[in-house]
Parts: sequence; C-alpha cells; structure tokens
Amino acid sequence: MEQKHKDNFNTLYEIARSINSILEPEDLLERVLEIAMTHLSAERGFVILADSNKENGYDVVTMKNFSSQKTSNDYAASSSVVISVLNTGEAVLTFDAPNDERFESSTSIIAQKILSIICVPLKIGERTFGAVYLDSGTMLKEFNDESLKFLTIFGNLAGIAIENAKRYEELRSQNERLKNETGAICLFENIIGKSDNWKKALEIVQRVLDNDVAVLLTGESGTGKELIARAIHDNGARKGLAFVAVNCSAIPETLIESELFGYVRGAFTGANTAKKGLVEVADGGTLFLDEISDLPFLLQSKLLRLLQEKEYRRIGETANRSADIRVVAATNKDLRNEVKKGAFREDLFFRLNVVNIHLPPLRERKEDIPLLAEHFLKRSAKMYKRPVESIHPDAMQMMLVNQWQGNVREFQNVIERAVVLCRGTQLTPNDLVLDVSRHESALPNSMTLEEIERQIIEATLEDLDGNRRRTAEKLGVSLRWLQYRLKEWNKD
Ligand SMILES: Nc1ncnc2c1ncn2[C@@H]1O[C@H](COP(=O)(O)OP(=O)(O)O)[C@@H](O)[C@H]1O
Ligand SMILES: [Mg+2]
Repeated sequence: MEQKHKDNFNTLYEIARSINSILEPEDLLERVLEIAMTHLSAERGFVILADSNKENGYDVVTMKNFSSQKTSNDYAASSSVVISVLNTGEAVLTFDAPNDERFESSTSIIAQKILSIICVPLKIGERTFGAVYLDSGTMLKEFNDESLKFLTIFGNLAGIAIENAKRYEELRSQNERLKNETGAICLFENIIGKSDNWKKALEIVQRVLDNDVAVLLTGESGTGKELIARAIHDNGARKGLAFVAVNCSAIPETLIESELFGYVRGAFTGANTAKKGLVEVADGGTLFLDEISDLPFLLQSKLLRLLQEKEYRRIGETANRSADIRVVAATNKDLRNEVKKGAFREDLFFRLNVVNIHLPPLRERKEDIPLLAEHFLKRSAKMYKRPVESIHPDAMQMMLVNQWQGNVREFQNVIERAVVLCRGTQLTPNDLVLDVSRHESALPNSMTLEEIERQIIEATLEDLDGNRRRTAEKLGVSLRWLQYRLKEWNKD
C-alpha cells in the first residue's frame, strides 16, 4: 500500500509536470497514454477525443500496440466502452470482461481474450472531451478505491494538460496564418507539409532561393529531395532556365564523364560527331546531381573544378569552356562517412555542403499524413477518374501507425493503388495494401510481456549498434523510458 501510494503520487507528479513541459498536443497525448499504460501495466491502449464530425462521435488520436491489421475488430470491442464513457463522464472498469454483462454484445472481447478494460474520461470541469482506453489479456494491476481516485485525478490533470496544449497550438497556427498572409511561407503549392521539422527544412529552402549557394539535400529515399531541388530552381533567380537532373548512380561509370561534360568529334572510337554534355545543357540554369555519393572518384575532381573555377572541358578538348550553373546535390547516404572511408573527396564535400537541408523521413512527420493523404487522394481520383472523396477513419489510423520505410514515395503509391482499387467513395482499410509483415512477429506465447519487451528492445539495440536514441525512435518510445527500462535490467 505504501509503495502503491508512492507510485500514484509519482505518476500524478509526472503528469502535472507534463502540463508545463510538453506543448505539442500529439506528444502530450502519447505521453499521457504511456504513463497510464506503464502505471497500470496495460498491454494496449489508445486516447480518443470527442469529435462530432466523426461517425462514432470521437477520433482516435494516438494508440499503442493495437496491430494495424486487427484495428477494426479491436474498435468494435472498445467502441461501446468509449461511447459510454463519453456519454456518462464516468470511468468504466472491468477485470472480467467476458463475464461482465455490460459487454454482453461484444463477442469480440471474448474472441480477443480481453480480460481487463479501463477507460477513463478526460475532463475539463464537468465537460468530458475525451478518454483514455486501456486493456489487457491479463489481470491489470490490483485495483481498489485508491486507484479509482488516482484515475479520476489522472483524467482531470491530463485533461488540463491537453486543453493547454490545444490552446497553444491554436495560438501558434494563428501566428503561422498571419505569417502566411504576409507571404513568409507557403511559396510551394505542390509541396505538402506543416509539421515542425518539415517547415524547418522549408525555411532553409527559402533562404537559399535568391543566391547561388551550393545546397546538399540529404534524407532517405522518397523524402522529397528531387521535389525540393526543383522547387529551389523554380522559385529562384534561374527559374525559366534549364533544370537538368543527373542521377549519378544510374549512369555507368564509363559513360558518366561524356554524359556530364560531352565530347568533341573523334575524341574516341565511335565519336563521329561532337556532343554537348549535361553541364552545357544546364548552362544558365540548375544542375541537380542526384545520388552524388556514387560519382566516381575521378569525376569528383572534375566536378570540383567546375564548382571552383566554373570551368570544364569536353572529352578530347584542350581548351576550357566556362559554365554558369547552380549546383544542387542530393544523397541518401551519410556523405561524411563516405569521406571518412575515403570514397568521397573531402574538398568536394565541403563545396557541395555549403548549406545542408535535411528532409525528415515520413515516420518523423506523421502529423503531415492526413494532409498528404488528402493531396494524393484528390490527385489520383482526378488522374484515374475515380469517385473517391474521403478516407475512413480506420484507414487513416492504419496509415498513421505504418512505418513508411519508402517515405512519401511509398505513401503516394499506396494511396494511388487504393484509389484505383476502391469500390465506393471512401477508402477503407481493405483498399490499403501496406507492408504488414513488419507488424507481425512470431513470439512464443509462454513469454511474459516483460520478457517479450526485453527481447524486442535488446534485438533492436543490437540492430542499431547500441544507439539508444535511434532505438527509442524506432520503437516509438521516449529515450527516457528506454533508459529507465535498461536501468531496471541493470544494463546501465
Ligand atoms: N512534401 C511533399 N509533398 C508532396 N509530394 C511529395 C512530398 N515529398 C515527396 N513527394 C512526392 O514523393 C515522390 C518522391 O519524392 P522525390 O523528390 O523523388 O524523393 P527523393 O528524391 O528524396 O527520393 C515524388 O513523387 C514527390 O513528388
Ligand atoms: Mg530521388
């Protein structure tokens, strides 16, 4: 009892602190869920906010451990519980769900072996505006009056914190709108995204438009590097002039010099006529060098010369030619690492990397998913002449929890395919073909939750060379939580 008291107190303290420290509504909701799940040792959970525009009257805003495949079944089971909490403003608790007559109709509770359910209202004063839902196939922590009091205070504290964060977000977006109206941001119509880390990247883009400074775009494949390179060209001083994209990994090593710099007649066997190189074609405009890390070493020095002296030669030529071009390069590799390995010239690296713009992977800008979905949905519907207009909340939820290793490119393909497959006017989970293999794992069911957790954490840590920050990111937990766990297992 003493210890439990202390735990409750600590948890409440932590939530109270979150009120002041986390202002991102999404982060905050995740944190609230994390705290509640940890405290009550729940296996799965989600947070909903009341939303009269939605079919059920609520919107699922964050969830943990609900596998994307089972999503719709899960909701059938939990939906009645959530709706009752929203309507009555009272917490629902059960520790024997299959025999609890309130859930008689929910066969899926039995099918899914849900034993314990806790659902707490989120409140501001008397107004219930959301709920935290937790369930588990095993008995949740021993429960008593003390815990009920705890949960009520928890709901109230979390309620205040969430309301605060929402207000802050409103202020901030109002601020952004004002900025937009004065033309500070939003130059690029076809570039979608309003998440912080995406906007940070765009802000740098804006600053490089009007000068010729060399830009290195970094980011995983499909994050929009080429799109941004074009935007830099189309909105800068060289717009209307040539934009030439060269994929350094697509051209065979033996051809790349002649492709880039051209040749004179008779330069080599078969060179019956002279040929312009892409550098010459791009003269006056922008040369986009994609996958720059694959540029052969010899060509790296020639490119360096072009950047430094603005001079080059066609193959077989003795006189120099000059070119006035802006160079934008892109890579999905860590170029610094290539330099260390001796595969990439350091001087060229510094020349190209005057300004680095890093494009975040889609999984780090999930708040942009609804916007991107709407954008690609409209575009594909038009392109394929399909009557699809909207996306079912369950389908949206699946997209929100997916990992998107292929980033926006993969996302766009999935929506496009879904629009073509879709039979009605709304995309459903069935229309989405996601790579679900990553969500499945064949874990022996004789293991305890903690053992499973430990195995996953250790395997991930090993995968990522012991990098804790990346491990936490990959597992969708906070670094602090991970460190706490490791400490608990004396790995610290
Ligand atoms: N923020 C974005 N808004 C709209 N479309 C995007 C965005 N980012 C990427 N895309 C689209 O995703 C696809 C992949 O982008 P691309 O620029 O080719 O990525 P990368 O060069 O990094 O591999 C393209 O069709 C691009 O138009
Ligand atoms: Mg690309």
